[in-house]
Amino acid sequence: MEHTGLLDIHHLCVRYPCGKEILRDVSLHMHEGEIVCVIGESGCGKSTLLNAVLRLPRRVRISAGEVIYRGHNLLSLTEREMRSVRGTGLGVVFQEPGASLDPIRKIRVQFYEAMRAHERISRKASAEKAEEILGRMEFKDPRRVMESCPAQLSGGMNQRVATALAMVLKPDILLADEPTSALDVTVQAQIINELMRLRDEFGTCIVMITHDMGVVAKMADKVAVMYAGRVVEYGYRESVLRAPSHPYTRALMEAIPRLDGTFPKGIPGQMTETFPARGCAFAPRCPHTRKECISKEMQQISLHAEHWTLCREGEKT
Ligand SMILES: Nc1ncnc2c1ncn2[C@@H]1O[C@H](COP(=O)(O)OP(=O)(O)O)[C@@H](O)[C@H]1O
Ligand SMILES: [Mg+2]
Repeated sequence: MEHTGLLDIHHLCVRYPCGKEILRDVSLHMHEGEIVCVIGESGCGKSTLLNAVLRLPRRVRISAGEVIYRGHNLLSLTEREMRSVRGTGLGVVFQEPGASLDPIRKIRVQFYEAMRAHERISRKASAEKAEEILGRMEFKDPRRVMESCPAQLSGGMNQRVATALAMVLKPDILLADEPTSALDVTVQAQIINELMRLRDEFGTCIVMITHDMGVVAKMADKVAVMYAGRVVEYGYRESVLRAPSHPYTRALMEAIPRLDGTFPKGIPGQMTETFPARGCAFAPRCPHTRKECISKEMQQISLHAEHWTLCREGEKT
């Protein structure tokens, strides 16, 4: 098994306590300074993947696999060791900003406590850093934001505060779950610029979950397409966007809303809630389904350097 990246996810399988299988055999390798966008319909397991890597919430059952970060399997660390990895090793912006923020504590205090947990820093120095970073997140009056509690701010403001809070610790890897979904386009563009600047200045690896193909086109180096708990296609952005191989990726591209908000073509049918024991979960919705799609287990088919797909259709191109 190769352990070569900054973060190597090997054959990760996740179930919820009810027994429901959510992730099946997910393998991804993240490198320093790389931005990987994870895309796929709602419910395909994107947030579960991020939570499993961070081992949050603890009730998620990881039934198989490894998550190797700097040579350590995160799945075998103690909770105490894991706490020291979260923050400066793996920073996170949760899909619900409420999950990263305490609703009734001042933002100034939350910045101080987050920084304090990882370095010796005075209240004054932490406030200066916080104000500086909030200023870059399109807040007109960062000082007022610092003296507010999240409960007094809008969802979009909290999303930006949570992103700033994760960024200020300069993590090796930033895991961000749809961090710009509640923002209007101009603010979104600024946040994306700040994330890319973080990568350029500090070599931060960013794993960005998004359903916005504009975000993918703007910032991704690589794209991972997920469907029903699996990564079905992976590769460099140019390669995946220009020559999508998996029928699901193609359907996803065709489903991109036009500028006027209309969908040229939705993806017919719905994602299955439970996975087939064998074969391709997309088969019931796929225009190219053949007998072996249902009877045979899927395997990675390599297309070009670091571009692979799980669909046999890919062999033909
Ligand atoms: N706590 C939970 N218990 C059981 N199933 C869950 C739980 N949280 C999420 N799920 C299920 O896991 C699947 C993947 O969810 P999620 O990771 O949130 O998808 P995404 O982020 O791609 O929208 C969904 O079918 C969802 O209903
Ligand atoms: Mg999600």
